[in-house]
Amino acid sequence: MPFTFRTINAVGDRDYFVPFRRDASRISFGHAATFDEQEYRDLIEARTREFPDGYVMVELDGRVVGQIEMHPREFEGRTIGFVSLLYLIPELRAKGYGMTLIHYVEDVFRRHGVPEYHLRVSPTNKPALRFYKKCGLVKIREERHQHAMWRLGKPIESGRMPHP
Ligand SMILES: CC(C)(COP(=O)(O)OP(=O)(O)OC[C@H]1O[C@@H](n2cnc3c(N)ncnc32)[C@H](O)[C@@H]1OP(=O)(O)O)[C@@H](O)C(=O)NCCC(=O)NCCS
Repeated sequence: MPFTFRTINAVGDRDYFVPFRRDASRISFGHAATFDEQEYRDLIEARTREFPDGYVMVELDGRVVGQIEMHPREFEGRTIGFVSLLYLIPELRAKGYGMTLIHYVEDVFRRHGVPEYHLRVSPTNKPALRFYKKCGLVKIREERHQHAMWRLGKPIESGRMPHP
């Protein structure tokens, strides 16, 4: 799928990134009750400035069809990459396209010299869990934030996966 990736515009794209994040919360937790829109908009504004390659809209033929949020961070004394959102619009899910998003994630972290990346997934989000397993991510541990979550991870050195 010929997706393109461009940095999120913290003002002009908010009609995409706000509903996408709400939808992702609903999918993960069954509701979006803890979602604070203003806080999220402020976060996007700051992160797009700090790490523009990691805060991107996914486009197909000029149309916004998804979103990625990722950045390097410290974890137990080392630098890892952390993916805080992978999102495709409903009609593009379950067709294998998510793998293209994972390739983007791994390419960006590799270019920035990040040797490993993590993400957190709700154990009730079974399609996402199956997808991450297929991409080679493995469970590191369970964590409790506002909800019970699983931390998954994968080394980057293991090389790029073949395209689907
Ligand atoms: C997670 C996501 C990026 C995965 O990308 P994808 O292209 O849909 O992934 P795949 O096509 O490989 O599908 C994942 C698995 O779930 C299955 N699946 C079933 N129903 C599904 C649904 N409604 N949506 C997605 N996947 C579904 C797929 O068949 C596939 O399983 P299989 O490999 O055993 O056939 C994408 O589904 C998405 O954006 N989901 C909504 C947001 C979300 O949950 N993000 C993750 C939060 S951590």
